[in-house]
Amino acid sequence: ILSTGLAALLAGLLGSIPFGLLLTRAAGLGDIRSIGSGNIGATNVLRTGKKWLAAGTLLLDFGKGVLAVVLVTWLFGAANAPMAALAAVLGHCHPPWLGGKGGKGVATALGVFLGLGWGVFVAAAAGWIVGAATSRISSVGALSAMVVAAITAFLVLRFDAAVAITIIAVYVVMRHEANIQRLITRTEPRIGQGK
Ligand code: G3P
Repeated sequence: ILSTGLAALLAGLLGSIPFGLLLTRAAGLGDIRSIGSGNIGATNVLRTGKKWLAAGTLLLDFGKGVLAVVLVTWLFGAANAPMAALAAVLGHCHPPWLGGKGGKGVATALGVFLGLGWGVFVAAAAGWIVGAATSRISSVGALSAMVVAAITAFLVLRFDAAVAITIIAVYVVMRHEANIQRLITRTEPRIGQGK
């Protein structure tokens, strides 16, 4: 129990590092939360026009997800990996340092998927690419990636990991409520465009 708690705490803390906010602030762009959609993720960082900062945000938010699962597996054993995946995404979406208001979890979710099993990651990434390429809208890529991930997980992973991935996927979709509203009203911006 103690090690499970420590594992969750470690993964949650890693997940809670708000790289989008830190990078844009370091670049002197002010508070990313007052730009575009107000989200701290790579999609919104791209709205500042700084492609490299957006790529860095994507990579770091993704990397912390991978690291959370790999590190917990290494320190506390593979049985704790699904819980670490959940904790990392939760940490990203609700960082205590930002009053619990964090990101939507897409990049970090893709990272923990890779940590849990590369098959789910490859399928989800392909889902993102197909969704985003056909629509030119980031949230469409995200929603399609989450659906693909939940389905693939049950085909290629152990049951507990598949359940964790499904919970994450459903939660990430729920975090996109405002995006879904905008998709319905056809007001969701395309990649690289303002809100
Ligand atoms: O799925 C991408 C999502 O994070 C969209 O971000 O800034 O358009 O709400 P944003």
